[in-house]
Amino acid sequence: MKKIFLSVIIILFCAAINAQTKSLNLVPVPAKVKVNAGQFEINSKTQIVLSSDNKEMKTAVELFNGLLNRAAGYRLQVTNNSVSSNAIICKLNPAISNKEGYKLLVQNSLITLEAQTPQGIFYGMQTLRQLLPLQIEQPYLSNVAWTVPCLEIEDAPRFVHRGLMLDVCRHFQPKEFVKKFIDMLAYHKMNTLHWHLTEDQGWRIEIKQYPKLTTVGAYRNRTLDGAYTSPEKRKWDNTRYGGFYTQEDIKEVLAYAQKRFVNVIPEIELPGHAIAALTAYPELSCTGGPFEVEGLWGVFNDIYCPKETTFQFLENVLSEVIALFPSQYIHIGGDEAPKLRWQNCAHCQSLIKKEGLKDEHELQSYFIKRIEKFIESKGKHIIGWDEILEGGLAPNATVMSWRGEEGGIEAARQNHDVIMTPTNYLYLDYYQANPKTQPWAIGGFVPLWKVYSYNPIPDVLNQEEAKHILGLQGNIWTEYIKTSDHLEYMAFPRGAAVAEIGWSPNAKKNYPDFKERMIQQFKRYDGMGWNYCNAILTETE
Ligand code: ACM
Ligand code: ZN
Repeated sequence: MKKIFLSVIIILFCAAINAQTKSLNLVPVPAKVKVNAGQFEINSKTQIVLSSDNKEMKTAVELFNGLLNRAAGYRLQVTNNSVSSNAIICKLNPAISNKEGYKLLVQNSLITLEAQTPQGIFYGMQTLRQLLPLQIEQPYLSNVAWTVPCLEIEDAPRFVHRGLMLDVCRHFQPKEFVKKFIDMLAYHKMNTLHWHLTEDQGWRIEIKQYPKLTTVGAYRNRTLDGAYTSPEKRKWDNTRYGGFYTQEDIKEVLAYAQKRFVNVIPEIELPGHAIAALTAYPELSCTGGPFEVEGLWGVFNDIYCPKETTFQFLENVLSEVIALFPSQYIHIGGDEAPKLRWQNCAHCQSLIKKEGLKDEHELQSYFIKRIEKFIESKGKHIIGWDEILEGGLAPNATVMSWRGEEGGIEAARQNHDVIMTPTNYLYLDYYQANPKTQPWAIGGFVPLWKVYSYNPIPDVLNQEEAKHILGLQGNIWTEYIKTSDHLEYMAFPRGAAVAEIGWSPNAKKNYPDFKERMIQQFKRYDGMGWNYCNAILTETE
């Protein structure tokens, strides 16, 4: 009888702990969590104790204090003195092995947050934020008990690259939105924003040496209205459309991102998707133009001609970009560059002969390798879409695998680093629910469960090859996404699935559990004024 009684007690105890873990609703789910009895309550006398004067750690704490101030009406005193109760202790501890990892211990009278780096402290703060009542995300409404359950968390990311790509070329987004988007990334412990800045439909970054890139290249006279149909059936919106970021705007966004530990990778597309630049400077093309900044979506035959003047132009552009962006990586595009113009260009053909190249694919490889050499000379590395494999990879290039995983697998086998972003799992411009219920989209079908099911490590790679998979990225192309509101709707909650795949151990993945946690997260999104797609509330799968 005593034994049965003891078993029942143990079962009830375990069930209670389980329920508590579930009710934490953390996204991404931490690597290890142990919930204990009791709770810590933050009040206006709680102090934040910093183990050092590290500036970035102070900033991370200041961001938390800003949130608390908005929600509760007070900031916590920040000190270097030793305090043994009613305190949140933030400690930089070199013994924590992962650079982005952290340990969070919540006890009745003390919270201890340890990390090797300020970035780890920042991520621990994001967890702490999600452990607080959801009113932490709202402006002050009424008195709330700011309680955090007692627990122990040991957490670190699975991948080093966790991010989203933002296309601001097909439709422009103001810098204020880009900052909001960075907040959304950081909240989910994502560390990368891939900023797609140049396209056929618009050039969006001020380059001081080439003012026409923005006075001419940032604006188009018409935009395809609605469906992409045969030419005679196309409808056009003839409103002049455009916009760009000044270098001051870019600096402002980068400073904002840096405080939130988001690395911003700029993409300057070459040799294709360049019609906006060619409209401004037609002499960089094979035919000499003239061109018009495109209002149609798709892939276009006019691309940069690999002349010395083009390389000089691109090196000058990239020099300004490199001077602005602290990122170690510069994305150079490389996708969807038709070879038709190069086939019919006397200069291109003589260059192929002179360099002993086999064909136009090897000419593209020559183009990318020259650009890589230049970027490496500035101490940076290139990333390119998987077409950069064609004709031979540049020596240090990282490949972004988008046309499925094959390009990524091939690159990893050639000892190159890879970021996975296959269309059929990670294109967040695709439909996420029954198209009849959704705003017009480019096509495809990538609902939340499909994104969540993705594993960036293909089974066919061995352990050594798999080490080259740096992580994953969701892509948000904006042909059919005009407003910030719509963009948020497409990006979340699927972006949260990208974040969890990138951060949490594969063994912890569980879609029903994730879905439940997301439904709770929606209340936090509401508080922050973030739009999202709530299709999972009625999803029957
Ligand atoms: C791409 O979607 N063209 C990379
Ligand atoms: Zn040419």
